[in-house]
Amino acid sequence: QTGKFTYDPGFTSTASCESGLTYIDGGEGVLLHRGYPIGQLAENASFMEVAYLLLNNELPTAEEFEQFRWTITRHTMVHEQLATFFRGFRRDAHPMAVMCGAVGAMSAFYHDSTDITDPQQRMIASHRLIAKMPTLAAMAYKYTIGQPFLYPDNELSYTGNFLRMTFGVPAEHYEVDPVVEKALDRIFILHADHEQNASTSTVRLAGSSGANPFACIAAGIACLWGPAHGGANEAALNMLREIGTPERIPEYIARAKNKDDPFRLMGFGHRVYKNYDPRATVMQQTVREVFKAMNVKDPVFDVALKLEEIALNDDYFVEKKLFPNVDFYSGVVLSAIGFPTSMFTALFALARTVGWVAQWNEMISDPAQKIGRPRQLYTGPTQRDYVPIDKR
Ligand code: SDX
Repeated sequence: QTGKFTYDPGFTSTASCESGLTYIDGGEGVLLHRGYPIGQLAENASFMEVAYLLLNNELPTAEEFEQFRWTITRHTMVHEQLATFFRGFRRDAHPMAVMCGAVGAMSAFYHDSTDITDPQQRMIASHRLIAKMPTLAAMAYKYTIGQPFLYPDNELSYTGNFLRMTFGVPAEHYEVDPVVEKALDRIFILHADHEQNASTSTVRLAGSSGANPFACIAAGIACLWGPAHGGANEAALNMLREIGTPERIPEYIARAKNKDDPFRLMGFGHRVYKNYDPRATVMQQTVREVFKAMNVKDPVFDVALKLEEIALNDDYFVEKKLFPNVDFYSGVVLSAIGFPTSMFTALFALARTVGWVAQWNEMISDPAQKIGRPRQLYTGPTQRDYVPIDKR
């Protein structure tokens, strides 16, 4: 049943669009995708089921899911010349720089899915983007460590395929660990979509001009990279490692509270959530599961738990309603799985591509859609006449 949810986000804003994909109640810490609570989806669904839900408004039947899965796997390979394009980067390029370039370059390779007026081409572009992001992210990782690219293996699940392309090598058989596969699939679900966040708004704004979908998603990747947004997962783990021991936490809490210090607790606070980010709850539970299954002990998790405990009992954070967000624990579990911090935001982009594509489709298929044009409050000088340079 479609309901018109309204809530006061606590700040004045003019709604930039209407959307039926994701509902957030920041005060209550509620996150729904097409009406389904994130906790239930994370517990029961697969990332590809959530992708289908976001794209098609309903969870798929078994037959619909198999058809969707088959369609996505048909697009997992990338054009061989795109692999050549990859080899133009420096080895020490940040994976997000590579992803920006490679995804933008897709519009130079897949001309038959750039005409946004054709619903068929829009659908093919959507499937290509969702299918190729894991391949491109794995290639970005392999390239930086000097290992050969692995072709997709479409017998594996979406996430299993990504794990093998990332951590497998041609010389050996790679066995997907089902615990890691399930944990990573759940992490992808937690990052799939999140209403009109900065990068999704970027994708919509770019799409509103009629730009092709590959260029729009590349714009979203660029925006997500910022440390205040998707780059926070990499920054949060670097911060936890720098803190190192629970004894040093008070020093960082003090810095975060000092208005003269630009330091912020990475992974804490949110533009909308003024309560616990429901994704952080699931993420913390996932850390425990992966640590147990992989028999991992990382003191950085203890630092994270202690920092959360201290912050949530500190008046500054309580008054300003600052809670852990999705990025606070994600780096801990991604590091345990074996990803370097430089890959964390690329993984966020991989997962968020599903939301970006679904939001782009929702916008572009609205016949009343017009080009976006954010307004401003002018604060510059009033009108005045030109003064020749010798008279200034
Ligand atoms: C994501 O929008 C989305 O949905 C994004 C996202 C998604 O799924 O797409 O959820 C993903 O981007 C999560 C956020 C990841 N970023 C970080 O963890 C970086 C650290 N967080 C901060 O930079 C900050 O919390 C923001 C950028 C996330 C929000 O900044 P705001 O809008 O300024 O937060 P606010 O208005 O709630 O801040 C209230 C006060 C401010 O101080 P005052 O001006 O009132 O004196 O709290 C302060 C802020 O300066 N504050 C913090 C803080 N976050 C806010 N102080 C210390 N540490 C922090 N982390």
